[in-house]
Amino acid sequence: MGGNKPSVKATGVSETKKCNEGLLRFIEESPNAYFAVREIGKLLDGAGFERLTETEKWNLKAGKAYYVTRDESSVLAFRTPKGRTLSFDSFQIVASHTDSPTFKVKPDAEMTAEDAYIKLNTEKYGGMILYSWLDRPLSVAGRIALETKEGIRTRLVKIDRDLLVIPSLAIHMDRTLNDGYSFHPQKDMLPLFAQKTEDGADLMELVAREAGVKKEEILDADLYLYSRVKGSLFGAEDEFVGSGRLDDLQCAYASVQSLIGAQCGKNVAVCAVFNNEEVGSSTKQGAASSFLETVLGRIASAAGKSEEEKICALSKSFLISADNAHAVHPNHADKADPTNRPKLNGGIVIKYNANQKYTSDAVSGAAFKKICKKAGVPVQTYVNRSDIAGGSTLGSIAVSRVSMHSVDIGLPQLAMHSAYETAGSRDTGYLVRALETFYGLTITAESEGLLRME
Ligand code: CO
Repeated sequence: MGGNKPSVKATGVSETKKCNEGLLRFIEESPNAYFAVREIGKLLDGAGFERLTETEKWNLKAGKAYYVTRDESSVLAFRTPKGRTLSFDSFQIVASHTDSPTFKVKPDAEMTAEDAYIKLNTEKYGGMILYSWLDRPLSVAGRIALETKEGIRTRLVKIDRDLLVIPSLAIHMDRTLNDGYSFHPQKDMLPLFAQKTEDGADLMELVAREAGVKKEEILDADLYLYSRVKGSLFGAEDEFVGSGRLDDLQCAYASVQSLIGAQCGKNVAVCAVFNNEEVGSSTKQGAASSFLETVLGRIASAAGKSEEEKICALSKSFLISADNAHAVHPNHADKADPTNRPKLNGGIVIKYNANQKYTSDAVSGAAFKKICKKAGVPVQTYVNRSDIAGGSTLGSIAVSRVSMHSVDIGLPQLAMHSAYETAGSRDTGYLVRALETFYGLTITAESEGLLRME
């Protein structure tokens, strides 16, 4: 139960390679949030975590490891501290997200063009760099809802072959393309699916065949495009890692591996990976939902805490919001803040924002710096250039629901929200090490103005 098998640590070249190979395998098997949760479940099963469901009563014990999913697209895993009975002061949480920007396939997606082609009607999910989706092999993966004897049952489906492409317009047909073209999601971004024939190609027919069911059994579906381009290490010394969905599967993978590998302290160690960060988190399974709050509440109840003691436990808790950060771009140095300039492979980035889009403050920043120092991992800082709005993330959303000390961090990367992103290969292992160290400590917000770290 909760086997503490050693996790990958990027101390040398071969360990860095091993760590990133695991990451790239995970990303390849996770074309979207549903599959990411399934893959995380496999990793946790392999490490002896017990699976719980929200619809049944729990019987939690000390010194055990558990996980629970919601909507098949968010997951919370946790370890309870060792002891004769379940007892703890507070929670130590790492939160990241399972989703990445992509295109969702609309119902009745087939559209005929020129009486010769069939293309698919799609809509944007999240804010991607549109042109990065052009001219690369794509396919479809997601979830179908099936009519069965017992009721409506879901199943994950992935068409595991090159199926689609969104062709760009030839430069000869628009000589201004390189002067900054404004891509239109409803016109420019529809993928080519088939040659039109007598019978006509039918996406749901393909999906049904892939799932081994009849098309009539599929009542509804959540299907998304995914890029078929494989991730890899590259650069003169393999110092970079390139793949789709590094935001935020790089942090999600590192946090799951850390929880698996960690020797935990006296608190409950929690790894939360939420869906829907890219669309604002306000869904039943997102960071703004009741998911984290109710799971923490149930753990507290299992330890016999009263309502007031639960409030005390939450007040003493600490959350690390782990979502990738922007490295200084080699061709766009001017876009970065003049003094806070994160680099690939320069270590974990602490993100600050005066307007609190990032939750980091003096207390939580100080705590995270101490964690990294203990882990022997470099840290960098990120702040937006003052005239650039920048992004937001799930940290502030999660802690406005379940309030506690919180720091926003991430791994430095380039081309965020491109279909192919670039990060530093050494940074993945840095995060695993830092988060293992975090889980290994006992951190307690003792009172106003005092955060204890033992
Ligand atoms: Co993100």
